[in-house]
Amino acid sequence: MTQPLADMRRDYTRDGLTEANAPVEPFALFTRWFEEAVKTEQPPVEANAMTLATVDGEGRPHCRVLLLKALDAQGFTFFTNYESDKGRHLLANPFAAMTFFWPTLERQVRIEGRVSKVSHEESDAYFQVRPLGSRLGAWASPQSRVIADRAELEGLLKATEQRFSDGQPHCPEHWGGYRLVPERIEFWQGRSSRLHDRLNYRLIDQAWQRERLAP
Ligand SMILES: Cc1cc2nc3c(=O)[nH]c(=O)nc-3n(C[C@H](O)[C@H](O)[C@H](O)COP(=O)(O)O)c2cc1C
Repeated sequence: MTQPLADMRRDYTRDGLTEANAPVEPFALFTRWFEEAVKTEQPPVEANAMTLATVDGEGRPHCRVLLLKALDAQGFTFFTNYESDKGRHLLANPFAAMTFFWPTLERQVRIEGRVSKVSHEESDAYFQVRPLGSRLGAWASPQSRVIADRAELEGLLKATEQRFSDGQPHCPEHWGGYRLVPERIEFWQGRSSRLHDRLNYRLIDQAWQRERLAP
């Protein structure tokens, strides 16, 4: 290793997060931070990439990176294969957590809540704007299943291309969106000497309560 892990650190000095510049509800703050991340983060960082944690039926956590594809007053939406591992976890335990990390801005946002499937119409509307290759991939790939080799996947894709030779695949029943409806959203702004700002919003009796957490 070129640099010992114990010596790898960065001091965060870019910005602060105070109660005075944070709104009383979290969606407006998330939208502001997200727009700043889209403007500021440079490729290969994708501002809408986040880590999604799910818990399986035996209480074991699993996480993976996904893309946030919609945000509205109802919640945070991502798309995936309903028969994937994460789909099975969400069936057993419909709660999840998302973490966004915007390194240039020295920011992290953590979102936790209940997850449910969006309507098939909503999934289909998004499916139809995906590139053809992604739409065919959603049909071809049995996400999270063991496959023999790359050739098996390519064979599955070839068969899918033949099935949809008109170039118009519709949205499969096993693929679609999930919406996480947040109960907690925490905004973390890195500060110097590890004295970071953490504003945590919790939904209590339908109203957002804000509190500051120690770093
Ligand atoms: C940058 C990035 C974006 C990704 N976006 C998605 C996505 O939007 N939907 C998805 O199903 N998988 C996405 N993946 C793949 C997932 O991380 C994961 O491999 C896949 O969903 C299977 O997860 P599971 O076996 O836990 O269900 C993405 C991976 C990366 C690195």
